[in-house]
Amino acid sequence: LARYAYVDGRYTPHDAASVHVEDRGFQFADGVYEVVSIIGGRMIDMQGHIDRLERSLDALDMAAPLSRPVLTMIMRELIARNRVDEGIIYLQVTRGVAPRDHKFPTGIKPTLVMTTKRVDFRNQKRLSEGVKVITIPDIRWARCDIKAISLLANCMGKTQASGAGAYEAWQVDAEGRITEGTSSNVWILTRDNKLKTRMLGPEILRGVTRDSLIRIAREEGIEVVEEAFTVEEARECREAFVTSATSFLTPVVQIDDTVVGNGVPGSLSCRLQRWYLDYSSGLRETA
Ligand SMILES: Cc1ncc(COP(=O)(O)O)c(C=O)c1O
Repeated sequence: LARYAYVDGRYTPHDAASVHVEDRGFQFADGVYEVVSIIGGRMIDMQGHIDRLERSLDALDMAAPLSRPVLTMIMRELIARNRVDEGIIYLQVTRGVAPRDHKFPTGIKPTLVMTTKRVDFRNQKRLSEGVKVITIPDIRWARCDIKAISLLANCMGKTQASGAGAYEAWQVDAEGRITEGTSSNVWILTRDNKLKTRMLGPEILRGVTRDSLIRIAREEGIEVVEEAFTVEEARECREAFVTSATSFLTPVVQIDDTVVGNGVPGSLSCRLQRWYLDYSSGLRETA
């Protein structure tokens, strides 16, 4: 099956797709991105992802490469051409190509790239069995609310997690409070049964999955407390999980050397996961 990438106006065979060496994405990581999951050929939370893309572009004074309807049309076209029933679409916008100079250049055309990948999300063992995470210091910059392509600290953290046999690394701020995973938001059910996830701010990315799950939980009458929590509080929690477009709601059963609850996904986590999976397969309406 031919697989295409979209690069600046063209659908190119994936293996041959490339951008210029002086693209600012390549030179400076001067760009932003989105990852949207696809189930049954349909993008999940597309509006939320495009909204966030616009916020990221605005925050960096970057022009949108295309209007929203055209962008959406191209995403759908690439998914159709690559016959992705289940998987992801990756979209990246960089400031464009210019002679290397730190200062933002003006009057250049942004670069737009899209690729897709097939992933069999729902049959992954980690959704039913849960995962282990480690905790690491958060060494990232002070604008983690921007979905920038500069992910070196996140890559280092994920590699460290993998080396420790863990799925994710939870990053910890200078006050000992968890910010987020290297590619996910973090949630716990506390000793006193509060479902907590860190409040929005420049320290974390506003996850589109986080937004949807907050909405679903509230519709089910479950209160969500948006508040920071420490590593100690997390180690003593009843349940824990992470959310992201590609991991959905993945239960966490071990934090460093501490087993969470009974070492199996908690009951609230399982219910929330079921509701979220129903929602993402189009079986559940939300506001
Ligand atoms: C640092 C970080 N936090 C949170 C998330 C979760 O965001 P979303 O639910 O929109 O995928 C991601 C997603 O990749 C991420 O990279």
